[in-house]
Amino acid sequence: MKDTELFGRLSKDILESASFAVCKTIFSHGSISIYDHSLAVAQLSFSLIEKSPAFDKACVVRAALLHDFFLYEWHIPGKRYLFHGWRHPAIAAKNARQIFGISDKEYSCIRTHMWPWTLFHPPLYLEGWVISLADKIVAMREALLCRGKRHSLVDPHSRGLL
Ligand SMILES: [Fe+2]
Ligand SMILES: [Fe+2]
Repeated sequence: MKDTELFGRLSKDILESASFAVCKTIFSHGSISIYDHSLAVAQLSFSLIEKSPAFDKACVVRAALLHDFFLYEWHIPGKRYLFHGWRHPAIAAKNARQIFGISDKEYSCIRTHMWPWTLFHPPLYLEGWVISLADKIVAMREALLCRGKRHSLVDPHSRGLL
């Protein structure tokens, strides 16, 4: 990433919010938190498009940061675990709209980031395709790096964080 100043400006309000800080206590793969995962996806997404004037950079950074803002521990066996892949994009988009007042375009990018998993919801914007690609690259990297490493499975709701 070259323009760290612009990335910092676009991400500041989300990264400094107490709501997004909850993502430090929810995990993506192994011991990688959703906070770190989402930051990595936002940084990679921004790096891929920062030189192109064709992209809405604020949308890319904000939607990438909030793409997994589902706010529950999904590794606990049960209904959430089984359907997490399909359901979390809509839950994250709804949470992001409620808490950060995101735009319709940002909502769409979050809602579609799991495609092709969510077959009927492909990205509608270029920004959505970039986030979806960056998410897969980062998730693959995490899965390879974190094989065998575990975290404690406690839902943030039960810890009084939400
Ligand atoms: Fe996701
Ligand atoms: Fe993700």
